[in-house]
Amino acid sequence: MLELLALAFAIVHFGFPLAYYWYAKAKWLRKPWNLRLDEDYRPRITVILPTYNEAGLIMDRLNNIYAQDYPRDLIEVVVVDSASSDGTPLIVEEWARKHLDFNVKIVREAVRRGKLHALNTALKQVRPESEIVIFTDADAFWDEDTLGKIVGYLSDPEVGSVTGNIFYVSTDVPLNENVYRSYYNVLRVAESKKFATPIHNGPLLAVRAKLLQQTGLPSYPGSDDSSFGSLVAFMGYRAIQADNVLVKEPVRGSQFTRKIRRAQHLLLNFLETKRYAKSLGVYVKSSFDKIWRIEWWLHVLNPWLLVASFLVLMISFMLYRSVVALMLISVGLVLLTLKSFRTWILQQIYLIVGLVRNLWTKDIMWNK
Ligand code: GDD
Ligand code: MN
Repeated sequence: MLELLALAFAIVHFGFPLAYYWYAKAKWLRKPWNLRLDEDYRPRITVILPTYNEAGLIMDRLNNIYAQDYPRDLIEVVVVDSASSDGTPLIVEEWARKHLDFNVKIVREAVRRGKLHALNTALKQVRPESEIVIFTDADAFWDEDTLGKIVGYLSDPEVGSVTGNIFYVSTDVPLNENVYRSYYNVLRVAESKKFATPIHNGPLLAVRAKLLQQTGLPSYPGSDDSSFGSLVAFMGYRAIQADNVLVKEPVRGSQFTRKIRRAQHLLLNFLETKRYAKSLGVYVKSSFDKIWRIEWWLHVLNPWLLVASFLVLMISFMLYRSVVALMLISVGLVLLTLKSFRTWILQQIYLIVGLVRNLWTKDIMWNK
């Protein structure tokens, strides 16, 4: 009996995301974007780049933005530094002196209060003529045609935000992370083609400035990427991840703590954003609600079915010495030798730990 219950939990836990994946892939991924694009659209852009102790990367990052194949006089860069102790702002100033044909401003915060706080500080500096604001990170690298492609999507007034596919680069080991990303990116792009995706990437998030002016960034963590993207979608705009916009990010620091933090912020998005949109009075009903409900389930509740299934099997084995339970647990352990299965389980662990950890810290400030 208990084994059947455990099996039912496991079937829903694995079956539902798989079914959704195949559905989204078959029904939505191949769809055209359904956008009305204007090739002559050349808006002014502000790129916001927050830094905390980025002396090692900041020059490469500025060079990478400088190399964009987009009219330089239409780009403004606002670097916002939060009291770095490694001289990051000095490097930015020196770089700016050597590139007088490029509009780079540096804003310094006297005290570090986290990335979200820094972004809000930077937003006050955005010139009013900018139609598009792009948030990025010091460790995100764009191809030369990235700005051009993004502007292409945003030339349709129904598009409110655009994010890209993140691709992790590492000098040593091949990364599990990219296995997970390939599953993830298929869903993101498929949902975007349908209407909008609730998950957005901080290394590149382009938004229509007028929407930012209307609401600002939400005040809870995670709002620098996914939560603002979701808010845009709740406002009735397409919030999309474009499949031809790639961002390369070097792997740095501990992947474990980083993934837990990402999970925490993603969960805050799912727990807060819909209510937040309604409280601002900007919520509009759309086909995004269906996508939201599915992703909400997948992130907030579905991981717990795995826990439940495992616990029930353990109980059945410990209390009743059930051989079937032992066999089912063994099957699970054997499957862990498969990379994709392992990656999935790890992601579930991040979401479980993230939900619990959110109860006492929101991880507003972090080390690399
Ligand atoms: N100004 C400022 N102040 N910048 C900060 C601070 C801060 O307190 N903390 C971090 N940053 C900057 C970093 O210097 C970097 O440019 C960017 O924010 C992202 O930080 P990383 O250290 O690279 O973190 P990550 O790659 O794990 O961050 C990912 O998750 C975050 C949410 O948890 C990315 O997707 C981020 O975009 C996302 O915000
Ligand atoms: Mn990073």
